[in-house]
Formats: sequence, structure tokens, C-alpha cells
Amino acid sequence: SIVSMRQLLDHAAENGYGLPAFNVNNLEQVQAIMEAASEVDSPVIMQASAGARRYAGEPFLRHLIEAAVEAYPEIPVVMHQDHGQSPAVCMTAIRSGFSSVMMDGSLMPDGKTAATYEYNLDVTKEVVRFSHAVGITVEAELGVLGSLETMKADKEDGIGAEGTMTREQLLTNPDQAVDFVRETQCDALAIAIGTSHGAYKFTRKPTGDILAIDRLKEIHARLPNTHLVMHGSSSVPQELLAIIREFGGDIRETYGVPVEELQESIKFGVRKINIDTDIRLAMTAAIRRYLAQNPSRFDPREYLKAAKEEAKKMCMSRYIAFGSAGQA
Ligand code: G3H
Ligand code: 13P
Ligand code: ZN
Repeated sequence: SIVSMRQLLDHAAENGYGLPAFNVNNLEQVQAIMEAASEVDSPVIMQASAGARRYAGEPFLRHLIEAAVEAYPEIPVVMHQDHGQSPAVCMTAIRSGFSSVMMDGSLMPDGKTAATYEYNLDVTKEVVRFSHAVGITVEAELGVLGSLETMKADKEDGIGAEGTMTREQLLTNPDQAVDFVRETQCDALAIAIGTSHGAYKFTRKPTGDILAIDRLKEIHARLPNTHLVMHGSSSVPQELLAIIREFGGDIRETYGVPVEELQESIKFGVRKINIDTDIRLAMTAAIRRYLAQNPSRFDPREYLKAAKEEAKKMCMSRYIAFGSAGQA
């Protein structure tokens, strides 16, 4: 059944686990996430970006998630709007049945400049006001996601702050976070600690200087009762990169957020861990391998089944690693 994100995050906090929040765009991704959850008995957060809605169309996306709920009535499912760029986008998502929305006020409406604190506060407050009135959970974001190696903000959806950033812009400020949560009353707060979206997060296995777990600890110490969210949390498994390269893909050396660091972050208030890239890598690895090993096959069901199975394996391992397995 569709459940409230707030209730699910509260349960995760009470029981000390974290939840992967997987991005969905199509049937096979929804099936992989649900089959994996069903196998390990985990609650599910599925989220859709603006790009997902452009790809699938709002009705298809909505009905895919409704189909997941119908097919797995025993599994609690949250349907979340990822990276809402404006209050209007969040409002539309609520109208189409999402139980949770993210107001990403970390960028100005031009999509090119880091938001002022005042702007972020204003739009987030507005979204909290109309969402809480109808029982919808609100995730907000404070700080600009980006790389502490290159000092560049990331550009999810092709939009993002331009130019070189300062280290302090790329890290959520703990004092500001306290003020922000008090003022906005958001249910969950996405923080910037050096992760970024996509496959190219780090040029080496991250250490504390480029993945600022210490900053997370400071924020959690100041906001022990706030559910924290980590974006850009794919682990970019080297095994999947190896398969993609073996079967003709071209992906340069890169590293993601190690699962052990995600497990550590769960000890410090992180409850929702956003994962999109790892599903993309799993499916692409499986499809490349399948087609290379079975050159005469052409039924999409065959290679998409392979893709689904590889994505499902990844999802299961995250449910288990984050402790949401057994919590449905
Ligand atoms: O936040 C970014 C997610 O990975 C979604 O990516 O905008 O390409 O759908 P997308
Ligand atoms: P990844 O690109 O690391 O999977 O991050 C996904 C994300 O943060 C979606 O909001
Ligand atoms: Zn994100």
C-alpha cells in the first residue's frame, strides 16, 4: 500500500536503519525494485524526477507505481517527487498522487546560480504549507551538491550552478541547517557533503577530505531528530564498470560512495539514500553482456529480463546493507 514518507522515515529512525530511494523511469526498473523488496521484505521508496516524467509521461509513471502497489499489496511503498524545481512542480506531483515531494531550493529559478538562503527558505516554507495541509511529506535541500575535488557543482537534469564554488558552498552549514529546519518545518533535509549525481563522483576511492562524513556528524549532532537525506549515493560498483567495459562500453576510471560509508552515515541520521546511477549501470552491464553473448537474439524481453535481474540484485544488496530488509 502507499504509505507516508514521514511515517516510514520515523520508523527507520526508531529502528536505526536507512532506506534506499530508487529512481524509476520504466517498467523493468519498477519490477526490479519491487521483486527485490518482496524477496527481502523491505519497504520501498520509488522516486521520479522531472526527467522521468518527460521520458515516460506522467500517466505511465503514475500507473506503473500504482501497478507495483497492486501487485505487492503487502509492501509499503512511498511515491516521491525527486528534485522539484519549484512549488508549482511539487503541487502538480501532489495532484497526481505522490505521497512525498522534494522542494529543491538549492538553485535559483534560472537553474544556473546557487540559491540565496532567503530564496530557499521562502520556497520551502511555501511547499511545506500546502503539503502538510494534505498530509504530504516534504524533503528540502540545503547546500549545493558538487565535487570537493573539482569544486564544481553537479548538473542534474543539465541544470546546476555554474563556475567554481567555494568549499563552504559545497558543504551544508550546520548552523544554517538548524535555522532552516526550525523555520521551514521540513520533514527531511538533503545535505551536501561532497557527493554528486551521476557516475563520475570521485577520481579515487573517497577519503574524508572529499566525502565529508565529519560534516554529516556535525549536522546530526545539532539536529538529532531530523531525517537526513543523501543524494548522489550510488556506489558505482567496479564489477559493473568492468562488465560494461568488457562488452564494448567506454566508461573512464571513476568511484562512487562506498556502501560502508553509506552504512556509517545511517548511524548519523541519514534515513533516505538516493540511488539512480547504480540501476543504470546494472541494466547497461547486463544488456551489453546479453547482446554480446547472444548475438542472434532480438526479443527485447530477453535482454530486458537480464537487465531487470541485474538491477534486482543491486537493489537487494542495498536493502540488506542499509537494514531495511525485514522491516516491511
Ligand atoms: O537527481 C537526479 C536523478 O539521478 C535523476 O536523473 O534527471 O536524469 O532523471 P534524471
Ligand atoms: P546517483 O546519481 O548517485 O544515483 O544519485 C541519485 C540521486 O541523488 C537522485 O536524486
Ligand atoms: Zn538527487
